[in-house]
Amino acid sequence: MRIDVLTLFPGMFSGPLDHSILLKAREAGLLTVAAHDLREYAEGRHRVTDEPPFGGGGGMVMKPEPIFAGVEALREKFGQGKAVLLSPQGEMLDSVLARRLSAEEHLILICGRYEGVDQRVADHLADLEVSIGDYVLSGGELPALVLIDAVARFLPGVLGDPLASSRDSFEEGLLEGPQYTRPRSFRGHTVPEVLLSGDHAAVEKWRREEALRRTRERRPDLVRKALTPGKGVE
Ligand code: ADE
Repeated sequence: MRIDVLTLFPGMFSGPLDHSILLKAREAGLLTVAAHDLREYAEGRHRVTDEPPFGGGGGMVMKPEPIFAGVEALREKFGQGKAVLLSPQGEMLDSVLARRLSAEEHLILICGRYEGVDQRVADHLADLEVSIGDYVLSGGELPALVLIDAVARFLPGVLGDPLASSRDSFEEGLLEGPQYTRPRSFRGHTVPEVLLSGDHAAVEKWRREEALRRTRERRPDLVRKALTPGKGVE
């Protein structure tokens, strides 16, 4: 999969992409990510990318031209990628959407900054507008990184174990239960006996019950969704 990112801050991408799973996926050729400076697509000596909003009000709005030019240049070079605008007004990112996006060959992520992005980008350029949660961040860069990570985990071969992403929390519609490792006793707190029993069926049963209990306690909305016919947890 290829992911191009259009941003005013391409430097924000190097750290997170250069570690752990994302680095391995890139080194294995399963994922290519390139961050492009939007300013390169801006016209004029000053390469202006934002202007005050029509109608007044504070702040600055990102101009449409550099964003259109950037997406069009990337599509010309790499084919008709799906353009995704990161914004708090978008469709909420969840594991279903991440999996769906992982089936795309090419994504172009557009990171907004300042008070917003000219509406014509969402209306006439982006195929999809995506939010990572009901809070406002300073820009679309961190959301783009979150999306890249969530999507990469669904790419075949990225996680060593081919079933790992389908066992992940949320894929079954449930939160994950508790996990323990050595030592068996830490400051007087012991590991549940069943995990030390060697009885795999009992361990599985316990994990499932704990996942259900935790989900019921913390996210009753997920339990209702999981019990909807066709989405089953049974
Ligand atoms: N840009 C600013 N806040 C955002 C959010 N919550 N999701 C996606 N893009 C954003």
